[in-house]
Amino acid sequence: MAAKEIKTNIFSVGAIDWDRRLFDELIPLPDGTTYNAYLIKGSQKTALIDTVDSPKQDELIDNLKRLKIEKIDYLIANHAEQDHSGAIPRVLAIYPEAKVVTDAKCETMLMDMLLVPESKFLQIKDRDMVSLGDKTLEFIFAPWVHWPETMLTYLKEEKILFPCDFFGSHLASSKLYVQDKYKVYEAAKRYYAEIMMPFRTNIKRNLEKIKDLPIDMIAPSHGPIHSEPEFIINAYKDWTSDDVKNEVLIPFVSMHGSTKKLVDYLVDALIERGITVKPFNLTQTDIGELAMALVDAASIIIGSPTVLTGPHPSAVYAAYLANALRPKLKFASLVGSYGWGGRMVDIITGMLTNLKVEIVEPVIIKGYPKKEDLHALERLADAILEKHKSAGIV
Ligand code: FEO
Repeated sequence: MAAKEIKTNIFSVGAIDWDRRLFDELIPLPDGTTYNAYLIKGSQKTALIDTVDSPKQDELIDNLKRLKIEKIDYLIANHAEQDHSGAIPRVLAIYPEAKVVTDAKCETMLMDMLLVPESKFLQIKDRDMVSLGDKTLEFIFAPWVHWPETMLTYLKEEKILFPCDFFGSHLASSKLYVQDKYKVYEAAKRYYAEIMMPFRTNIKRNLEKIKDLPIDMIAPSHGPIHSEPEFIINAYKDWTSDDVKNEVLIPFVSMHGSTKKLVDYLVDALIERGITVKPFNLTQTDIGELAMALVDAASIIIGSPTVLTGPHPSAVYAAYLANALRPKLKFASLVGSYGWGGRMVDIITGMLTNLKVEIVEPVIIKGYPKKEDLHALERLADAILEKHKSAGIV
C-alpha cells in the first residue's frame, strides 16, 4: 500500500495483505487484511504509530523512504502482537535514534518476543502525553483489547484516535476510508467475535473511558479508517451490551444422517415458534461465521452423534470455542444420536463452564429418529421459547 496522507503531515504507511487467509493459524480471513501504521510529522518531532507484520516490513520501510523520513523520534507501540510490532527491530535498525514509546507490560513483551533492548524504550503511564511540537499524542491505557498491555494513542489537535486492534476489521482494501458500511460492519463484527468477545466487560470499560473524548476520526491498525466514528462505536456498544436476541444457534455434525434429521426437524420447530435459527454444519462452516453469530444469540443447541462413547470431535471443537469466546448465551442444550450408549451430554455440558447458561433438557436418542423422538424435539422447541419469554427476549 503506497503511503497516503490522511491529514496534513499525517500519513498511512502500512501494508495490505491481500492473500492472507488465516490468522494465528486458526482464524479465517475471507477478505485478507491490512496492517496499518501511521506516520505523524510534528513541527519538532516525528512519530510512527505501530508497524506491520514482519513479512510486510519492506513495504513499510519503502513508504517511509518515499516520504523521505530521515529521523523517527518516537515509535509508538500500542500493542505487542507481532502483526503490529513485527517490524519494530527493522525500524530501529534504520532509525536508531527512535525510542519505543509504550507501557510497562508491552515493554516486557517486546523485550521477550522481539528481543528489543531495554535501552530503546520510553515507558509511559496512562494519560501521559508526548509533544511533537505542534501536535500532542496522549496515551490511554485500554487493557484486554485483546491482550493485557493494549493502549490507544490520541492525537489531540486533530482529534484522531489510533486504537490498534480496537474498532479494526480484517478487510484488505485499497480504499483508505470506510465506504461500504455493511461490509465493514460484518468484518468488524467477525473480528470482535473472534478475539475481543471473551473480554466484553473490559471492552465496555474501555468504551466508557473514551466516551467523553472528542473523536473526529478512528484510524485502526486493521481495515479502513472510520471518518464517522459513531458508526463503529455504536456497533461496539451494541455487541458489548447485555442484550441477546431471540436466536438459536445449532452447530452440528452428523455421520449417518440421524443427527441431521434431528437438527432439520428442530430448525423447523423453532422457526414455527418465531425464533430465528442459525444451523452450522461443522464439516463445512467457517468457524468465524459461528463466532459472529455467538455475539447476539440467546441459545445454543449442539448436535452430535456418538463417536467412541463420546461426542464427535467437531462438536467438541464447537463447544470448546463457544466456551472460550464467552458469549452472552443464556441457554444451552444438546441433540444427538447413539448406537449403544455414551457420555455425550456429560462431556459437552462439562465443557461449558465459562458460560452462564441454563441447560435445557437435551434430546439424545438411540439410532434414527422415531415419532416419539420428534415429539421430544417439539418439547425442546417449546421449552426454548418459554425460556426466551421468561428472560424477556421475545
Ligand atoms: Fe492485530 Fe492483536 O493484533
